[in-house]
Amino acid sequence: RKQRTLGLIKPDAVTKLGAIFQMVYDAGLTITKAKMTLLSRKEAMDFYVEHQAKTFFTDLIEFFISGPVVAIEILGDEAVSLWRKVLGPTDSSAARNEAPESIRAKFGTDGTKNAAHGSDTLASAARELEFFFPSSGGHGPANTA
Ligand code: CMP
Repeated sequence: RKQRTLGLIKPDAVTKLGAIFQMVYDAGLTITKAKMTLLSRKEAMDFYVEHQAKTFFTDLIEFFISGPVVAIEILGDEAVSLWRKVLGPTDSSAARNEAPESIRAKFGTDGTKNAAHGSDTLASAARELEFFFPSSGGHGPANTA
């Protein structure tokens, strides 16, 4: 079943963009949109609103706006779970033991600076894709990729 999901290369890993794009393709997935952007604090807090009560929220936001991020739309069979598998465990320190070839193992640092993000469900993929690639109101090319 073909799905679309959001991939996000975080500020600590934008210099590794080439290697990360290659890992997406090597997994059999396709990249159908890409956008590099420096988020405002408000935008970052909106994106991670589900984590606003967590102890790590402030650290997460500071890190997330410390430089530009690259948002990508990923298309493919079971893209939501497959992209998260390519990412590896959330904590990069754990990822280095559990999935040494994963993106977070190779390019992240710890539980906060973890190189990249992936939507966790089809519903959050729809919300997060709309956040970075709004489907209406723009003057750009039709959003049909
Ligand atoms: P991400 O997959 O983008 O989803 C939420 C982010 O919050 C996560 O990656 C990490 O960057 C951060 N995060 C999640 N859990 C923790 C934690 N226990 N301590 C610090 N940061 C965390």
